[in-house]
Amino acid sequence: MRIAILTSGGDAPGMNAAIRAVVRAGSQRNWDVVGVLEGFRGLMAGDFQPLDSRAVGGIMQLGGTMLRSARAPEFSGAVGQEAALQQLAQRNIDGLVVVGGNGSQRGSLALSRLGFPVVGLASTIDNDLWGVDVSLGVDTALNVVLESLDRIRSTASSHGRIFLVEVMGRDCGYLALNAGIAGGAEIIAIPETDSDELDLMVELRDAFDRKGYAVGVVAEGWRGGAAGLARAFAEAQLDDNAPRVRLTILGHVQRGGTPTYADRMLGTRLGAAAV
Ligand code: F6P
Repeated sequence: MRIAILTSGGDAPGMNAAIRAVVRAGSQRNWDVVGVLEGFRGLMAGDFQPLDSRAVGGIMQLGGTMLRSARAPEFSGAVGQEAALQQLAQRNIDGLVVVGGNGSQRGSLALSRLGFPVVGLASTIDNDLWGVDVSLGVDTALNVVLESLDRIRSTASSHGRIFLVEVMGRDCGYLALNAGIAGGAEIIAIPETDSDELDLMVELRDAFDRKGYAVGVVAEGWRGGAAGLARAFAEAQLDDNAPRVRLTILGHVQRGGTPTYADRMLGTRLGAAAV
């Protein structure tokens, strides 16, 4: 048997653990394992590299992906998919493991419908994949957001300020909701509930008046994000003493860094199961 593995779309902490597990579980069966560089782009272009047990040593604790990742919209069309099938056939590859999120697994589905065996490993910090409780990378991202919220809370309370923290997730509020609850946020705005802007502002101000500071969590997919809410808050000028809102957009820091125990284990178990 010869199998290939690629990582695609937004990277997620734990991808390296999955690559390592696929390579080692494959090697144990005396299969050849081939890495595809930069996701579906590399699959279409034929950027492959053989991987053995040693090649994946020392990567478990690293964030990102040793195979690199990319978004490849060209793969959604028939031309790109045909090019990928040709590359796989030329190298006598029997099966493909795709580690990625929504867009990537749409690619997996397309290849599978064309008759090529694919196993998809759900990997995205957004946790927005159907049929999956928790995808690879979510636990690490949640912990990064939590740590940030704790840090923001300490400076917010020292200075008596209101902070709005924007959390990633694309159209999904999972990260914002869960980190917001565990971080004790005063308000949480997520696209799924589409909370009213005025209600959020009043709640934020009430919390500030009660405690002398406040921290709100806003999902990037909620209307205008945290910047939109901060602007609305400033414009509303609820009264002359209205506190200024400070904004923190966490951004890609949520996708980087050392994977937690949970993500290393999940990547390892999913990789072994895929083989
Ligand atoms: O899907 C993961 C994610 O980090 C989303 O949370 C975010 O909206 C998006 O990717 C950012 O994409 P990019 O890294 O391409 O800017």
